[in-house]
Formats: sequence, structure tokens, C-alpha cells
Amino acid sequence: MATDATLSTPAGDERTLTLLRERAFAVMERAYAPYSKFRVGAAVLASDGSVTEGCNVENAAYPAGVCAERAAVSAAIARGNRSFEAVLIATEAEEPTPPCGMCRQFMEEFSPHLVVIAVTRDGREARWTLDELLPKAFTPHSLDRR
Ligand code: THU
Repeated sequence: MATDATLSTPAGDERTLTLLRERAFAVMERAYAPYSKFRVGAAVLASDGSVTEGCNVENAAYPAGVCAERAAVSAAIARGNRSFEAVLIATEAEEPTPPCGMCRQFMEEFSPHLVVIAVTRDGREARWTLDELLPKAFTPHSLDRR
């Protein structure tokens, strides 16, 4: 599952990755996932080096729930960020889990070349670029009138 997606500094920095991992697993503990029991934490690294996290928040009306990645990116936008280097996704699954389609589209809006890193508790890791995960995306340019 691992790919050759590489990070340029500062995201490629081991300390930054460790920080992203810690923040994602910490926020995963605060996930509200009583229905799926599938807790997710996401930590997003903005281009200014700041890190913002989010967790999945489910709802009794199931479709009203939000994924960790969209929660994290939304919180970062609220802090004034507009572009991102990397997002790290932490779950309790045995295998690293890639982001859902809706989150891919959501993140594409801001950072089509985003590095997406998924990790497990026992240290398994997978990496992709968002371009790989969402080829031929619908982007803001798709709305341009001709
Ligand atoms: N979930 C995320 O938070 N991120 C993903 O990329 C995949 C799915 C959440 C949504 C729902 O709360 C639970 O995981 C099960 O699908």
C-alpha cells in the first residue's frame, strides 16, 4: 500500500511527523463515534508550519456526521490557513486507512498536491499524494466560464 509520495521540508522532517502522529492520536481519543465505533483523528500541517487537528463527530442522523479530515481542515481554515502540506490520519484499524471520497474532494479545494499519511497504532504507515487519490478532480478551475 505504501507509495513513493515524498514530503519536502518541513513536513518531511521526522520531528514534524512525530508531532503530527502525536496530535492525531491524541485527538482520536476525543472522537465521537458511538455508532460506527471507528474513531479517527487527523492532524493537518499548514504551509506556515502550524498544526491543527480534528476528529470524526457522528450523529444519530447518520449522514449529519463529519469525518476527522474535514473537521481538521475546517478548523485550520478558521485559524486563517489556506494551504496545506500534509494530513496525517490516525485510526485503530489494523491497516492504514485512506480518506473517504468526500474528504478527498474537500481537501483538493485547498491543496491538490497534499501528502496524505495514514498510520496505525503499531506503526504501520501508508502515504499517497492527493493527486493519486483523486485523479482528474473537479477543482475551482472547473467552474471557470468559457
Ligand atoms: N471517517 C473519517 O473520519 N475519516 C475517513 O476518511 C473515513 C471515515 C469516519 C466517518 C465515520 O464517523 C466513521 O469513520 C466510520 O465511517
